[in-house]
Amino acid sequence: MFGSAAMMIDDFAFARALHVLALVHWIGGVAMVTTIVLPRARALPDAHAALTAFEAFEGRFATQARFSILLAGLSGFYMLDKIQAWARLLDSTFWWLGLMVVVWAAFALMVFVLEPLVVHRVFREYALRDKERAFALAIRLHVVALTISGVAIAAGVLGAHGALP
Ligand code: HEM
Repeated sequence: MFGSAAMMIDDFAFARALHVLALVHWIGGVAMVTTIVLPRARALPDAHAALTAFEAFEGRFATQARFSILLAGLSGFYMLDKIQAWARLLDSTFWWLGLMVVVWAAFALMVFVLEPLVVHRVFREYALRDKERAFALAIRLHVVALTISGVAIAAGVLGAHGALP
């Protein structure tokens, strides 16, 4: 078997490995922020201290996540192009592929545009006014994003391996 066509690591397989590696780093980080960093920061009694604790972690992770989001997108579009499957984005039987792109676009918009331009400042002001509610909202939104990402990962693995109807 080894070295046969079925075992070769071609460029599609390499792109898929990079795709999954990038997802593990990116969505794993989102899980960490959602379940550990935000709740720990929220538990600090002082709003300034809570913001500092959150931003010290979040700022560094956002820098790393920009790379993994970029890599996930490049590898994903490379695979689509390689198998000339762009039309699948409009095909409802490949809904899991559409879901990937929607999740990716939402995160990219947030991390590259909205967060640096608007959300960072707005969240800061809100947290200084009402720490509890601001962090509760941030946690809720992260839970939603994490849940949808989880569905996209599960559906992606099932769909890519022909296990979805
Ligand atoms: C621009 C965005 C994206 C594009 C164009 C894209 C495209 C693709 C393509 C073409 C495949 C291979 C499908 C096949 O082998 O038939 C794939 C696999 C996969 N993608 Fe994406 N994807 C993107 C983003 C995402 C995101 C955001 C997630 C999850 C949050 C995701 C999760 C997966 C998973 C889990 C697989 C299956 C890996 C495997 O088990 O072989 N993708 N993607």
